[in-house]
Amino acid sequence: MKKTYRIAVLPGDGIGPEIMEEAVKVLSLVAEREGVTFEFKHGRIGGIAIDTDGTPLPEETLTIAKEADAVMLGAVGGPKWDQNPGHLRPEAGLLGIRKALGLFANIRPATMHPSLVEASSLKPEVVSGVDLIVVRELTGGIYFGEKKRYDGPNGEVAEDQCIYHEAEIERIVRVAFDIARKRQKRLVSVDKANVLESSRLWRKVTERVAADYPDVELSHMLVDACAMQLVRAPKQFDVIVTENMFGDILSDQAAMLTGSIGMLASASLAEGSFGLYEPVHGSAPDIAGQGIANPLATILSAAMMLRLSFGMDAAADAVERAVWSVLEAGHRTGDIAADRSRAIGTAEMGRLVREALQSQA
Ligand code: NAI
Ligand code: MG
Repeated sequence: MKKTYRIAVLPGDGIGPEIMEEAVKVLSLVAEREGVTFEFKHGRIGGIAIDTDGTPLPEETLTIAKEADAVMLGAVGGPKWDQNPGHLRPEAGLLGIRKALGLFANIRPATMHPSLVEASSLKPEVVSGVDLIVVRELTGGIYFGEKKRYDGPNGEVAEDQCIYHEAEIERIVRVAFDIARKRQKRLVSVDKANVLESSRLWRKVTERVAADYPDVELSHMLVDACAMQLVRAPKQFDVIVTENMFGDILSDQAAMLTGSIGMLASASLAEGSFGLYEPVHGSAPDIAGQGIANPLATILSAAMMLRLSFGMDAAADAVERAVWSVLEAGHRTGDIAADRSRAIGTAEMGRLVREALQSQA
């Protein structure tokens, strides 16, 4: 019996369906090569679900996701739904599924491919060789704390509460240590322990967990210092772990070191091996339907799924190598091309990646 993995496929809106098609084809080839079965089940999310089912996250989609071993998501949103009320906006589908699936760990790699160095806004000698991962806590902290608005003696008052529990910190920090262990074994925990009580607990728990990972070198950095170091000397970082709001900001900053939104993959993990994988970019309505979107962020997200949810490390490496070799050969979609007149389309890029994968021993 072949081992079977169930994958929920939620293409979403705009370029979502175009880029997802290429990722699914790459995964099908991986299944063939590895002698496993990938069972794909498609579901609707975002604008398309609003139009078809009257809600951005239909029950049926949630069931498909929950019954799967992992979820691949394209992107949601577009001008068509921009004026909708909050609960009928495509983004409500995203927030809803993240919450329903208990995705507490957001993983965002920023890897500078040598042949794309010119796409960065920073100097080549600063960014070439950057290969880091930001691990962000996704379901706690100030974004989920109690919010209040009321009138005080000196005008309106607003409150956002920031709460972290020991167990919440421990589980995200363990995810980061596990990832660091498979890489350069260097973990930087980012906090604001000179000011925030929640950060002091964060640091204490991180120190305690570190005892279980003697092979990983742990250091602490204040969030403002980290923001500076990320642009000054990003190569010093291997894995960064931080709380929700700091991670929101630092993961975007780290991602932009590498230049192109069309290349950035992400994973959001729950307890166990379950995860949701999606490109960092949105639905790109400005280029949707033209067949020119870059599918590499989605294909690289699929590689993350192979590694983090299915434990298929060799297959993940092979997909990543295939992507890099296509770039090395000079193939570019419009978003990363120096000369746009020679850019290739979505399907062609997908085909080249599969060809590169096939030609690997
Ligand atoms: P966006 O990421 O969709 O697009 C920003 C720019 O990057 C556009 O010029 C677009 O053409 C380009 N781009 C993005 N992905 C690309 C790709 N794979 N290949 C080539 N070019 C690419 O962000 P924007 O324009 O702010 O948002 C558009 C819609 O997407 C909005 O409705 C927004 O709410 C939604 N969105 C959804 C996200 C998600 O599903 N996770 C994340 C961000 C935005
Ligand atoms: Mg953000």
